[in-house]
Amino acid sequence: MKDIAEIRADFPILKRKVYGKPLVYFDNGATTQKPQCVIDTVDEVYESYNGNIHRGVHFLSDMSSEAYEKAREKVRSFINADKREEIVFTSGTTGSINGIAFSFGEQYIKPGDEIILSQLEHHANIVPWQMMCERKGAVLRVIPINDNGEIILEEYYKLLSSKTRLVSVTQASNALGTILPVKEIIAAAHHINVPVLIDGAQGVQHGIVDVKAMDCDFYVFSGHKIYGPNGIGILYGKEKWLSGLPPFQGGGDMVDKVTFEKTTYNELPFKFEAGTMNYPAAIGLASALDYVSDIGRENIASREKELLSYATSRLSAIEGVKIYGSSDMKISTISFHIKDIHQYDTGMILDKMGIAVRTGTHCAQPVMDHYGIEGTVRASLCFYNTKEEIDTLAEGIEKVKSMFA
Ligand code: ALA
Repeated sequence: MKDIAEIRADFPILKRKVYGKPLVYFDNGATTQKPQCVIDTVDEVYESYNGNIHRGVHFLSDMSSEAYEKAREKVRSFINADKREEIVFTSGTTGSINGIAFSFGEQYIKPGDEIILSQLEHHANIVPWQMMCERKGAVLRVIPINDNGEIILEEYYKLLSSKTRLVSVTQASNALGTILPVKEIIAAAHHINVPVLIDGAQGVQHGIVDVKAMDCDFYVFSGHKIYGPNGIGILYGKEKWLSGLPPFQGGGDMVDKVTFEKTTYNELPFKFEAGTMNYPAAIGLASALDYVSDIGRENIASREKELLSYATSRLSAIEGVKIYGSSDMKISTISFHIKDIHQYDTGMILDKMGIAVRTGTHCAQPVMDHYGIEGTVRASLCFYNTKEEIDTLAEGIEKVKSMFA
């Protein structure tokens, strides 16, 4: 593995200063920074072969189309899907979940049917299902969590019934960092022939994801959270599901024949890719996946585990700091609160020290409701962070405390 200095040199933004202080970027759960190779790849598309994909007979369109389809193949192999037809490009995790919620709802949901989610979900894995339930007269059921921030599996098993049509859960909580036992969740749902969607927005960048081994029916993630460009995401679906679902958007490229009387749809995966897709970002995502593979996904996981353990012991040693989410199975995310200090104040003061954290509910209001709190301060770390930066955060927290003393 490259050493940490070499890794950090790959990310130009990490060299910058904020308010004259070295940037300490701990908001990787919101978006990750981009290595130079990703920036160069996207630039190269625009500089040397930009042409709309799948449409032109000309050289540039052919080149863009080929790079776009190569990117699809890269994603397929990265998550170990069976077929390229199972990989649909979208705008991001939110776009992917909204798409499936719409298509699945149209095809399979009747009044009284149930969709199971967990209390750890991001709003992106709640609201689209709620909208679908309102349209179709279906009902949401929610797996509760314990005070460690873990889902209670026994309660999940009780929720599964002949009314359940789909289970949709996150791979890891964006608010607390908890990794969910997705294999158990999927196996139990499959036992009664219910498909499972896994929201990988906070999972795919932290270790190896193998959709075949996991046996999920749908897997979704965003490019920008795995060091790729913004505006691109993935919807993986097993062919047996995708082929039976109607498109969630209509437009160019997703059609076979169009007349005013009837339109027939293109084959998979194009049936789900209406209009001009964000091909420069898809091509940039492929470059990000290459980068991650070069660093090594086991290396990333073990480095992040070490950073999490160091940060947990550093922060929990500070008097007045309460950490939310104490599962043994966590991604490198720490959510905390300093006694008697509002999370926004903490976040804004840390910002002035050059430390970027997220504050508030993290788009996961039900998690905050469980603890009866308004929000937390969240430090979401990744492999390019360092122990020295964690020390800076710990010192920053002490300074915040002293300002409010
Ligand atoms: N979902 C992103 C986060 O957790 C934006 O911060």
